Amino acid sequence: MKCKITTFLAISQHIIIALPALKALLMLVFRKASGLTSQIDLFKRQKLKIGFVPTMGALHKGHLALVNQAASENDKVVVSIFVNPTQFNNPNDLANYPRTEAEDIEKLKSSGCSAIFLPDVEELYTNTIRSDHFELGHLDKIMEGLHRPGHFQGVATVVKRFFDIINPHKAYFGKKDYQQLLVVKRMAEKYHPDIKIAGYPTERDEKGLALSSRNNLLRESEKKEALIIYQNMLWAKEQVEHMAPSEIKKTIKNNFKVSPLGLEYVEIADAQNLIPLKNWDEAKQARIFIAAYCGEVRLIDNLSLF
Ligand code: PAF
Repeated sequence: MKCKITTFLAISQHIIIALPALKALLMLVFRKASGLTSQIDLFKRQKLKIGFVPTMGALHKGHLALVNQAASENDKVVVSIFVNPTQFNNPNDLANYPRTEAEDIEKLKSSGCSAIFLPDVEELYTNTIRSDHFELGHLDKIMEGLHRPGHFQGVATVVKRFFDIINPHKAYFGKKDYQQLLVVKRMAEKYHPDIKIAGYPTERDEKGLALSSRNNLLRESEKKEALIIYQNMLWAKEQVEHMAPSEIKKTIKNNFKVSPLGLEYVEIADAQNLIPLKNWDEAKQARIFIAAYCGEVRLIDNLSLF
């Protein structure tokens, strides 16, 4: 009996050690939409719940937290990696966007990802690399919508294509791209009302810099300078009781003038609809949004004020 227990323990230990390796082997990689759709159909026939995490690769802890969140709530998790050309309004930005496919696949092997979708541009856009048109109202006219014309049409186009192909139960987005989250919700309300859209908190490094694939393009000295964004947002949060939104924005604009960063915009808006606030009592929840250039790299961040 003792011998049987010892043998059982030895085997189960091997199984525990072998599990991550086994999971990595079982992670499926699709480059064609048709293959992925067939696999999803199979999952759905088995009544499995599917979570989806869309990414443009250069994966960091923020993406992996979304994948693990999705794995904790679903039976299968699909992660897409695709640098979507239609959401870049600046060709240099598209050309310089970090592409780290092999490393990304390795990282996903030790996450809760069940399948990776790695389409090429042809696969998603066939003949014409062009956005469809979505009615995004005010969301397309302020902040990122204003400063990156066409960006959200491109985001909505590609996310809708992914939803058409994968049709997950729930899709996971980071709140760092808060305006994008609202754009996706709006698109999904119309075209995929059954898919739940969830936003998760921004992951930051130990000093407070929001994790972003674009941080790969920053030098170490620039990473330190970039902290000015988070510091100003924290300062704004402390001032809510004492200053009007316009005064806070004015002070932040002045702070950036004497900093190495180039401020593109600072906005304080209603967290529900992103309408800029003149007075605090206009909203139940408010957020501050900043876009700034650190050298050549454009960074965005936002924070809940209340
Ligand atoms: O947030 C991103 O990485 C992209 O905008 C998304 C949602 C994957 C669409 O290309």
